[in-house]
Amino acid sequence: MIAIRNLSMRLVSGGRDVSILDDISLDVPAKQFLAIIGPSGSGKSTLLGLIGGMDTPTSGTISIDGRDITKLSDDELSRLRLQRIGFVFQSFHLIPTLTARENIAVPIELAGDPEADAKAGELLRAIGLESRGHHYPVQLSGGEQQRVAVARAFTHDPALAAHADRIVRLRDGRIASDDLQHRASGARP
Ligand SMILES: Nc1ncnc2c1ncn2[C@@H]1O[C@H](COP(=O)(O)OP(=O)(O)O)[C@@H](O)[C@H]1O
Ligand SMILES: [Mg+2]
Repeated sequence: MIAIRNLSMRLVSGGRDVSILDDISLDVPAKQFLAIIGPSGSGKSTLLGLIGGMDTPTSGTISIDGRDITKLSDDELSRLRLQRIGFVFQSFHLIPTLTARENIAVPIELAGDPEADAKAGELLRAIGLESRGHHYPVQLSGGEQQRVAVARAFTHDPALAAHADRIVRLRDGRIASDDLQHRASGARP
């Protein structure tokens, strides 16, 4: 269970005080599949970074299973990240042990789509890397890796959100909407 109370993040940038997250409160029960969406710059990465113990907020609290992580030392935060937090980064972080095709297919599979492999093949074609699908990231040029990462990011955002239990939409650092999704039970693998 994650309980976020009155979370705010402000930074001084270019001599100006910038509000990045403004009074966010959110409860996430155990096992809930929550998608946080919103336009670029709305605060998604900042919020996830705070929940993941990568940064400390200006004010407010984040309790994970009853423990306020905003009060932890850097060492304690490192331990928390190691033991409790899993991050999958969307851009430029291809999984080195998976081929280009598998890297693209994984998020589609996670969204419960049985056509994941075929769709990954279509995406490879769309980015002009059809013949490189069986190559591992290290066998691709930087530009090719980037195209694979872009293909993967394009696919999984809406696909994953559609399968979430709940969708929280951010706008300008605030929660603009918070909707439980109605979907057939057992739809997720
Ligand atoms: N270190 C920083 N210094 C100044 N502004 C920042 C910093 N980090 C993020 N921002 C600003 O905060 C806002 C939210 O950023 P971010 O959390 O990355 O949004 P999102 O992930 O939704 O695109 C943006 O306007 C961004 O420019
Ligand atoms: Mg972001």
